[in-house]
Amino acid sequence: MKKLWGGRFSKSAEEWVDEFGASISFDQELVLEDIEGSIAHVTMLSKCGIISEAEASQIKNGLEQLKEKAAYDELSFSVKLEDIHMNLESYLTELVGPVGGKLHTARSRNDQVATDMHLYLRKQVQIIIELIEEMQLALLEQAAANIETLMPGYTHLQRAQPISFSHHLMAYFWMLERDKERFAESVKRINVSPLGAGALAGTTFPIDRHLSAELLGFEGIYENSLDAVSDRDFILEFLSGSSILMMHLSRLSEEFILWSSQEFKFIDLDDSFATGSSIMPQKKNPDMAELIRGKTGRVYGDLMGLLTVLKGLPLAYNKDMQEDKEGMFDTVKTVTGSLKIFAGMIRTMTVNKNQMEKATKTDFSNATELADYLSSKGIPFREAHEIVGKLVLTCVNKGCYLADLSLEEFVEAHPLFEKDIYEVLDPATAVKRRDSAGGTGFEQIMIAIKKAKDLMAKK
Ligand code: ARG
Repeated sequence: MKKLWGGRFSKSAEEWVDEFGASISFDQELVLEDIEGSIAHVTMLSKCGIISEAEASQIKNGLEQLKEKAAYDELSFSVKLEDIHMNLESYLTELVGPVGGKLHTARSRNDQVATDMHLYLRKQVQIIIELIEEMQLALLEQAAANIETLMPGYTHLQRAQPISFSHHLMAYFWMLERDKERFAESVKRINVSPLGAGALAGTTFPIDRHLSAELLGFEGIYENSLDAVSDRDFILEFLSGSSILMMHLSRLSEEFILWSSQEFKFIDLDDSFATGSSIMPQKKNPDMAELIRGKTGRVYGDLMGLLTVLKGLPLAYNKDMQEDKEGMFDTVKTVTGSLKIFAGMIRTMTVNKNQMEKATKTDFSNATELADYLSSKGIPFREAHEIVGKLVLTCVNKGCYLADLSLEEFVEAHPLFEKDIYEVLDPATAVKRRDSAGGTGFEQIMIAIKKAKDLMAKK
């Protein structure tokens, strides 16, 4: 097969060399974007009088046919033609004859591939934003259903203070809100057209870059042709936003894995999101959560990979940049898959309210209440802390919890203790009283859920 750039060459590379250099095995993912970009380019060429209207319509007709074939998966691509751009151009010429060769007037694969990537990411980021919202809605549903579900809140993975399970879930809602914002803000930099930058320096043809940008729905054009073809910041931003998102999902995965263990038993994952063991009949493993935790690593890898590819590149295009694609596709697939799984996992999980609440009563996570009690009666907090610490030690030695101590024992520890302390020690009271803005108090949670719902309704 003759190379589209074969003129300068007197012999062709061996097949295995071609294969090494080719990107078609992965960049065929860009088939629709590439056709879309070409249609806009050819429309612009004819509007600017660079090719005739008749030629443009012949070419466009061929491109439309290719689009249809692509939709039905009827195109097969060849490694000999290196990448999606040359494969499509070759198909086009087969379909419409030599006029197909005019498509590449005033264009290079360098601005072409950059255009494809911008179009592709713009679409994918929109899909990801919608999937984040799905997961947020799932969190909101469970949060609304679990306002009064008490659980121990942790620091250092040691029980710290009782909280509402709803409050814990809502923490992830707000993390996702920031993730969504990051993606939404990045669109501004994705939605810029490199088309018309040519190989690196612009073109001698009287093109109209604003027109092709407008036809593709871009908000503006790159100001500098060198920057246009060598910028991959928008992909880096996507990968870093994705890394942060995956870090959040990985943390929630870890919690789900812990919570569904026999040691915690706080939640049961639905059978449809768990797997069994081939040897141990009793096992129900939280595979999906583990896998998402694991896949976070590959997204970080994709980010580090591209940062490293780009770091030493002189302007403008270098073949190294072909390495920008697989990581990006991989991250898109990983992030969209993980978000979908999580939305389902959250919606279908069973929350073991009794088990969680029991946990809040068989620990010392109400010790702060006792210290606050004394200090609100005028005892300096440090002193109150010391007194309660001693009471905890008494309990540890006796093998009981604070609420098991008699009023006499309390009074002996400090005369300001009265019988209302039992009410204070109740984890539900502890949660309710944390009514500071953003705290776990039931009122605060209701405010937060309302805010979150309003936010989602605005979309
Ligand atoms: N397959 C190439 C890539 O993905 C397309 C651009 C090729 N440009 C070039 N000058 N060789 O980067």
